[in-house]
Amino acid sequence: PHEVARVKNLNLIQIGKHEVETWYFSPYPVEYAHLPIMYICEFCLSYFPAVKQLSRHRTKCTLQHPPGNEIYRKDDISFFEIDGRKQKVYCRNLCLLSKLFLDHKTLYYDVDPFLFYVMTMRDEDGAHFIGYFSKEKESSEQYNVACILTMPQYQRMGFGRLLIAFSYELSKVEKRLGSPEKPLSDLGLLSYRAFWSETIVGLLIEQQKTGIELSIDDIASRTAFQPTDVLHTLQNLNALKYYHGQYVIVLSDTVIKNAERAMKKKRREVEPKALNWKPIH
Ligand code: COA
Ligand code: NA
Repeated sequence: PHEVARVKNLNLIQIGKHEVETWYFSPYPVEYAHLPIMYICEFCLSYFPAVKQLSRHRTKCTLQHPPGNEIYRKDDISFFEIDGRKQKVYCRNLCLLSKLFLDHKTLYYDVDPFLFYVMTMRDEDGAHFIGYFSKEKESSEQYNVACILTMPQYQRMGFGRLLIAFSYELSKVEKRLGSPEKPLSDLGLLSYRAFWSETIVGLLIEQQKTGIELSIDDIASRTAFQPTDVLHTLQNLNALKYYHGQYVIVLSDTVIKNAERAMKKKRREVEPKALNWKPIH
């Protein structure tokens, strides 16, 4: 292993067309610690001290998308599944890059036990890295996400939501209920809470039309959310009422109005039919 600098080192990276300010320390080799800008190949995620080295690298690096299998494509969005055991260098580079924006997660040098799901947006130059999540191949806790990141230049555009939605689509195929690894960062918690609320409220509004009530376990099995996440979400929405000796789920007018407003926002959704994937295990 390389010697590492232990304080926040890099302040600025260049990746693709973007210059990005970093947030936290990441253990890149110590000789990169004091560079004004570090240059990252947006396709293989290798790093370079100067633009000259990056340009030289790009004449040799022919990648125009992440390595691994493209398991999803809809419009310009793709997901690639990358096995940490098979693509060690790429996955280590991905962990180093994402650590720049993750405070508390320990960086796993051992990438073997993980699968990485990288989301890209395609244009005529290639499939550009937007974000990813990692997932343990065997999680005793039934976690379906270890780390999750949207690159800062793409945040607050609905991509985090898309990553989260995708992680639950994989769980549905696996016929498992999933939850993100704890602790979540503040931003992670905000994003998950928003996603859980919108999904559950949307489902309940749809369900009202049928006149059949859903239990917490019903909601869990339809969404692949774990029952505790369903329960906490309903509590946060103040939607659990005690009537005649039992709990019932009741959505307030405000919650319904907010949900209808949110549903009108135009945004990308995961199309389950565009997923071409079978679990490895
Ligand atoms: N402030 C307030 N609400 C926020 C927020 C912020 N900075 N970021 C996300 N949210 C909430 C909002 O409700 C948002 O919906 P809206 O934009 O319609 O209001 C919702 O989460 C989803 O936002 P979205 O644009 O889909 O998420 P994102 O692409 O910005 O990605 C993260 C969210 C968590 C992946 C991103 O912030 C990130 O990569 N953070 C650094 C890494 C990290 O902390 N990861 C999680 C811990 S492992
Ligand atoms: Na964090």
